[in-house]
Amino acid sequence: MATTDRFDLTGCVAVVIGGTGVLGGAIAHGLAEAGASVAVVGRSKERGRERVKALEKIGAKAISVSADATVPEALTAAEAEIEHQLGAIDILVNAPGVNSSTPFLEIDLEEWHRLLDVNLTSVFVACQVFSRAMIAAGRGGSIINISSASSGPPLSRVLTYSVAKAGLNNLTLYLAAELAPHDIRVNAVAPGFFPAEQNRRLLSADRRKAIVDHTPAGRLGEPDELIGAIVWLASQRASSFVTGAIIRVDGGFTAKTI
Ligand SMILES: NC(=O)c1ccc[n+]([C@@H]2O[C@H](COP(=O)([O-])OP(=O)(O)OC[C@H]3O[C@@H](n4cnc5c(N)ncnc54)[C@H](O)[C@@H]3O)[C@@H](O)[C@H]2O)c1
Repeated sequence: MATTDRFDLTGCVAVVIGGTGVLGGAIAHGLAEAGASVAVVGRSKERGRERVKALEKIGAKAISVSADATVPEALTAAEAEIEHQLGAIDILVNAPGVNSSTPFLEIDLEEWHRLLDVNLTSVFVACQVFSRAMIAAGRGGSIINISSASSGPPLSRVLTYSVAKAGLNNLTLYLAAELAPHDIRVNAVAPGFFPAEQNRRLLSADRRKAIVDHTPAGRLGEPDELIGAIVWLASQRASSFVTGAIIRVDGGFTAKTI
């Protein structure tokens, strides 16, 4: 088999939850370029429509389904809608995210639960809903959870987010074992720092400098630098023996202390 064929996703159906966001959008684009039909799931109908138009421009089959990922019934309905429109689902990427820099002593339970709901509980529910569908379809699958450099050791200023991402790593490892008998591989990609919506206010000039100074690559990442890792993990032919892996795409940020 030619090496490029291993990364060909023609005939696959991919779902990107949070596909309306900056990194999710780049991921959706990369999966479509590799040949997959792509369903973009997000809260905003308008941003979903824009994303679909961009994907159609590169010749991809794409649909947008609006759903709040923190509402289990909405994810169940989204899965049914995607299967109805595109067929059985092969690839699920979980990329919803919100962040906050509230200091520990001031975090109230409303904020704590909101961040855990979006960053962790929604991923747990999505894994459950979509893996049930993959099992029923009987052709295996690949689940890729978007973690973070903050999943451990945690970054300063983003406690709840870091706790959620640590949980997401653990969920990923657990599901890799539990779902392996169904030929479903479960991996995570842990990005370093990429300017996006959820971290716009957090990336102040001083923090950005501190991050870049600590990053061996000496810069922030570009969203399309995630695509190689995503397509590799999505492709059964390219990564059939890879499950339970947490792949860092962070310019070396987590490779050193001082
Ligand atoms: N940008 C970075 O530097 C960075 C680093 C590490 C990890 N990540 C992770 O990458 C993923 C994508 O984030 P991003 O940086 O592109 O930010 P973003 O703000 O551009 O995208 C986040 C997306 O999540 C969606 N979302 C939020 N709450 C939702 C909900 N309840 N239901 C459905 N969708 C919801 C938003 O609408 C948005 O489309 C997140 O999981 C984030 O934690 C980002």
